[in-house]
Amino acid sequence: MNGIPTERITGPLSAGMGDLTSERSRFIAEAQRQGLHYIHQPYELYSEANHDAWRCLYRGMEDRWQRHANRHFLQGIDRLRLNPNRVPRLEDVNKFLYPLTRFRAVAVSGYLPAFLFFNSLRQRQFPTTITIRDGGDAFAEWPDIFHDITGHVPMHTDPAFAEALVRFGDCAHTAVEMVADIRDEEEQVRRLTSIIRAMARFFWFTVETGLMREGKGLKVYGSALLSSRGEIDHALCSDDVQKHPVQLEWIINQGFLPNHYQPLLFITESFTHLYELVDELERWMRAGRLNNVAPGEPAITEADLKSFLRPVH
Ligand SMILES: [Fe+2]
Repeated sequence: MNGIPTERITGPLSAGMGDLTSERSRFIAEAQRQGLHYIHQPYELYSEANHDAWRCLYRGMEDRWQRHANRHFLQGIDRLRLNPNRVPRLEDVNKFLYPLTRFRAVAVSGYLPAFLFFNSLRQRQFPTTITIRDGGDAFAEWPDIFHDITGHVPMHTDPAFAEALVRFGDCAHTAVEMVADIRDEEEQVRRLTSIIRAMARFFWFTVETGLMREGKGLKVYGSALLSSRGEIDHALCSDDVQKHPVQLEWIINQGFLPNHYQPLLFITESFTHLYELVDELERWMRAGRLNNVAPGEPAITEADLKSFLRPVH
């Protein structure tokens, strides 16, 4: 598993664990209580209501993907052979994904501190939520398996996109290097907060909400949009959304609120362009140009900072 341990919840497993509905899964609560980040997918815990939610979400997206999704995403969805009617097993997804780009989806218990998340990408492991939102709501406030598997993972089948993600993971190691020798602890935390914020904003305005030109129009490659039937329509059809060519200096200084429909989106030219932007992000990091980005969202937590200051590889 390339250095990332797969941990298992100790004690009786299925008994009394309920289903895998987001925010009320006892299995996940127990994993978090035990401090486990990487877990397995207890497939037997998915209830019929969980599978129904998956079916409803998937059916709600199919037409929209055809209309609005980037062609690399559509190819990816085909290649993964997801079942529209059943929550997927990660091992089945990986059977199709791994031979294409050596990426794998790995089950996690929820939010991963920033370094762990970015470092997983570097190791071609995508931290994947295994719970599913209640009742197939169009918009989920937090990632769930529908967001992670239908929004992110199809993009990981594309070699150029996959390389850009791995390169982004490299930047997390550069960030560790950049702050390691700062003796003044307060300054170290201040600078690191700014660098993590810049990285999170970059990720948000590209991987999560990115648009790309295709023919005469715009298509979506951002995962947050690709997994929300409400938001993908809003992104491409509402006059209230500003769309601009991506500019590094803008996106690293631009705050965002992940739990709302996005008012501002950026257009990337290609995945080669995305890779070049990641390279540039790293050059800017080395030159100190990420040390003072504009304050604001997203908030950087204690756990995020610790994960960089005492990184586990
Ligand atoms: Fe996401």
